[in-house]
Amino acid sequence: MDKSANGHPVAIVIFGAGGDLTWRKLIPALYTLFRDQWLPERFAITGMDMKKMSDEEFRQHLRAGVEQFSRQDKPNDEVWQTFASSLHYRVADFANAECYAALAQHLSDLNREWNTEAVRIYYLATPPQMISVIPRQLGTAGLARDYRNTRIVVEKPFGRDLTSARILNKVLTTAFDESQIFRIDHYLGKETVQNILAFRFANALFEPVWDRRYIDNVQITVAEQVGIEHRGAYYDQTGALRDMIQNHLLQILCMIAMEPPVSFDADEIRNKQTDVLRAIRPINQDHVHEHAARGQYGSGWIDGQHVPAYRDEPGVKPDSTTETFAAVRFFIDNWRWQDVPFYLRTGKRFPHRISEVSIQFRPAPHQSFPASAIRDFLSNRLMIRIQPDEGIILRFQAKRPGLQIHLSPVDMHFFYCEAFNAKPPEAYETLLVDVMLGDGTLFKRADQIEAAWALMTPILEAWELSAPPDFPNYPAGTGVIEPAAILIARDGRNWLTPSLYETEERGVNVHCKPA
Ligand code: BG6
Repeated sequence: MDKSANGHPVAIVIFGAGGDLTWRKLIPALYTLFRDQWLPERFAITGMDMKKMSDEEFRQHLRAGVEQFSRQDKPNDEVWQTFASSLHYRVADFANAECYAALAQHLSDLNREWNTEAVRIYYLATPPQMISVIPRQLGTAGLARDYRNTRIVVEKPFGRDLTSARILNKVLTTAFDESQIFRIDHYLGKETVQNILAFRFANALFEPVWDRRYIDNVQITVAEQVGIEHRGAYYDQTGALRDMIQNHLLQILCMIAMEPPVSFDADEIRNKQTDVLRAIRPINQDHVHEHAARGQYGSGWIDGQHVPAYRDEPGVKPDSTTETFAAVRFFIDNWRWQDVPFYLRTGKRFPHRISEVSIQFRPAPHQSFPASAIRDFLSNRLMIRIQPDEGIILRFQAKRPGLQIHLSPVDMHFFYCEAFNAKPPEAYETLLVDVMLGDGTLFKRADQIEAAWALMTPILEAWELSAPPDFPNYPAGTGVIEPAAILIARDGRNWLTPSLYETEERGVNVHCKPA
């Protein structure tokens, strides 16, 4: 789809506009889109929330967010003023029908002023409990009817298990058609995640080896240096499995494992991804310990700073059994992937922030080199670095210069900032443009969400039934979690060190050097 053809007027309504998401992500992304002329000439952004605020206070608050979180430099005064003139705020009680009647009036006033039917986007940036209230009210007020021009964006968490996700899907689809619903997983908007599709399906080189004959295992790591920040109350009810694996990591797995799509049609791509979810072998509740491991951080040191244990974070129960680390091994029962393990792990308070997919190839079938030549041998590995320094690294063997034969692993790398001399857009910029255009490729359908929750159910239930006796079981700043090491060691494998850490260990350059 040609994204530059984005000229149709748009009215964006943000429910929960006083919150963090609006401040840190949505408005900085919308401001950058405006600055780079990705927003249509006629647009309006209406923020709604309980908090009392005037338009002017709202704008000032948002400007501070843009200054802090936008990937661009400080906003230019003139550009900001023009952008801010389209920002408005309304105090609202989302459970009250009157607020929707007033909204209806406001939106039809905009249509009258612009002399057209604008695209309407309702963005739910609210706490989870509101997600079932607002769509109902929008439906009752007749604000969801125009299914071609009206869209609703729903943030995660989308439910907390299969049952609640099904209920939410029912509520949403009672008022809106599935084609109007945009369920966000911001990982799908990340440039490198999208690049997995380009890498796999625009290059004939890799697809022939992309299967069980050549690949030994796939590891997906999302390590975060941050703790739970100021979200203790939410996180303590959620944990790493729900917060990260059910959505972000499973979506990455789908991109790696999906079959080639016939076209770039949104449903075609999503059908292929859903096929992966449906092919993942369900884990039997009695065998969860063979497939999944969990951890919780204790106090420790990060970048020379002492950080508290999870149980001492504000909003967290002092005897909490919520996991801040989760690892799961999945198998995909189809021709391409039979018996190839996919290891997923994610955790808070790791020594560094890194998200990476490592594809470990099988060793060469016959080793003709003398033992002395292959002392440092490592079989081929492809690393897709999602963040930081987005790029791709391919490891292969090379002969060391010298009179003797001695093979060493070397890395060939591509980094966005070197190759294109540009920083990739923020995920929210990409996703917001797609919503304006009505392109659902990077958003999740109801069936995908439900399939992902179904895979989590046995693990969630087993973990709820047996409290972990050894929490906290990893000190902040170490990233060493014994149950996860045991999980993979049982298969005779180990967790691969992400390429960024290897920089220190092997002294190789796997950082981006801007051109
Ligand atoms: C969110 C989770 O979805 O993703 C957070 O709720 C997590 O707990 C965040 O920190 C990670 O996103 P990113 O883009 O910083 O990797």
